[in-house]
Amino acid sequence: MSAADPFLEELEQSFALPDGALKAVRRAFQEEMQRGLSGEPSSLKMLPTFIDRASGRERGRFIALDLGGTNFRVLRVELLGGGTVRVAGIGKYVIPEAAMRGTGDELFGFIARSIAQFLNDNRIDAEAKFRLGFTFSFPIDQSGITSGKLIKWTKGFSASGVEGADVVVLLSKALRQVGLNDIDIAALANDTVGTLMAQSYEEPDCDVGIIFGTGTNACYREKVPNIKKMKPAVQSGEHMIINIEWGDFSQLRVTDYDRQLDRATNNPGRQWMEKMISGMYLGEIARLILERMIEEGILFAHSSARLKAGDFETRHISLAESDRSDDLANIEECLEALGLSDSSYDDRAAVAAVCRVVSTRAARLAAAAISAIVTWMDPEPSRKHTIAIDGSLYEKHPHFRQRIVDTLEDLHGDASRQIELTHAKDGSGIGVAVAAAVAAARA
Ligand code: GLC
Repeated sequence: MSAADPFLEELEQSFALPDGALKAVRRAFQEEMQRGLSGEPSSLKMLPTFIDRASGRERGRFIALDLGGTNFRVLRVELLGGGTVRVAGIGKYVIPEAAMRGTGDELFGFIARSIAQFLNDNRIDAEAKFRLGFTFSFPIDQSGITSGKLIKWTKGFSASGVEGADVVVLLSKALRQVGLNDIDIAALANDTVGTLMAQSYEEPDCDVGIIFGTGTNACYREKVPNIKKMKPAVQSGEHMIINIEWGDFSQLRVTDYDRQLDRATNNPGRQWMEKMISGMYLGEIARLILERMIEEGILFAHSSARLKAGDFETRHISLAESDRSDDLANIEECLEALGLSDSSYDDRAAVAAVCRVVSTRAARLAAAAISAIVTWMDPEPSRKHTIAIDGSLYEKHPHFRQRIVDTLEDLHGDASRQIELTHAKDGSGIGVAVAAAVAAARA
C-alpha cells in the first residue's frame, strides 16, 4: 500500500458518478432543456440557430473562418456535392493575448488582417466576390443565419465592446478597414453547429454535434413547434438546430477543487459543466489535487518543487493515461520537464490515478448529457443517432471516447448501439461552409 492510497480512495468517491447520479443529471438536464426552450430561466440557453442540417447535395466554394480556441483559422472549402468536401487551403494564426483580452476593435482587426494575409498567401483575388462562413464558438443570440449578438464571452476571452454587439457587423466593419469590401458573410454558426452540419453533409442521420476541445458544448436537431420561445412568424421549416450551450449547465455536484478552480477564472460562477469537462480546465483540476497531495506530504515527499497554476495541462493528462511502460517512464519524463525530478514509482502511479479520476468524471458527465439529448428526441432510443464530435480532448485523450461509450452502455444497455459517436474532423471549420450553402439554397 502506498502513502497516497487513502487520499486517492476518498478522491475517487468524491468524483464518482454512479449510474443513479448519472440518471439524476440526465433528468435535471432535460428539465433545463425544457425551460430553456420555453424562454424560462435556465442554465441551458437553448439558442435557435436558424438552420437545419444538410442534404449532402449542396455545392460551392467558400471561405470559412473559425474563431473560438487558441488559434484563429481560415479555410478554403469546396463542396462538390454527393457529400464530398475538398479543403483547398488552411491558414492558422495564433491569437495574440492583446486581441483576446483587449478591445473588440483589436480582436476583429486581427481577424481581418489574418484573412487578408490568407487571401494573399493563397492568391485568392480579393476583388472577386466570394461567400464567407463565420464559425464563432461562443453563445450568440441569433435573429437569422447572418446575424448574432454575443451573449457572454467564455473560455478566457474578454475583448471589450463585443458582448451585446452583432459580431457580423463587427467583422464587416473590420474587413472594410483592410480594404475587403466585397465579402458576403453568408452564415454565422457556433462550432457545434458546424460539426453537425459537416457530418450531416456525409451522413444524413446525424442529429447531434459536440465539441470537446478548449471548451465543450453540444447542439441537436429540434422540432420547430417545440421551440416555444420563438415567435411563429420567424419559424420556417420543420426542424431547426438548437445550440444548447451545455457548458453552462449548473445542476451538478461540485467538489472543493471545482470551486477553487472556478474562483481563479475570469468567469466565476458560470460554465460549471465546461469547467468539469473541457481541455481548458481538466489539467488545472488535476494540478489542484496534486498540489494538495504535495502539501499533505503524500506526493513528491523528497522534492521541494511545486506545481504552479497552468503548469499541468490537459495534454499531460492524456500523456499520463497513455503510459503503458512498466516503470511509468513517460510520466517520469513529463514530471521532470515540470521541475519534479526524482519521482518514485508510487508518485508516478498516483499522478496517473489522479488523471484517471478527473477525466473519467468528465467522460461520464458528458455521456449523461448525450443520453439526455438523445432520449429527449427519441425516448427508447428506437432509431439510429449519429453524434458528430470534434475537438482536441476527444482526439487526443486515449480513453475519453471509450469511457463515453461504456457509460452510454451502462445507461442504455443494448439500445446504446443506436447511439454512434463519429469523429467529424475539422467539422467546426468545414461545417460553416455547409451552413452557408444550405442558407443560399433556401434563400
Ligand atoms: C464554449 C462556448 C460554446 C462553444 C464551446 C466549444 O462553451 O461558449 O459556444 O461551442 O465553448 O468551443
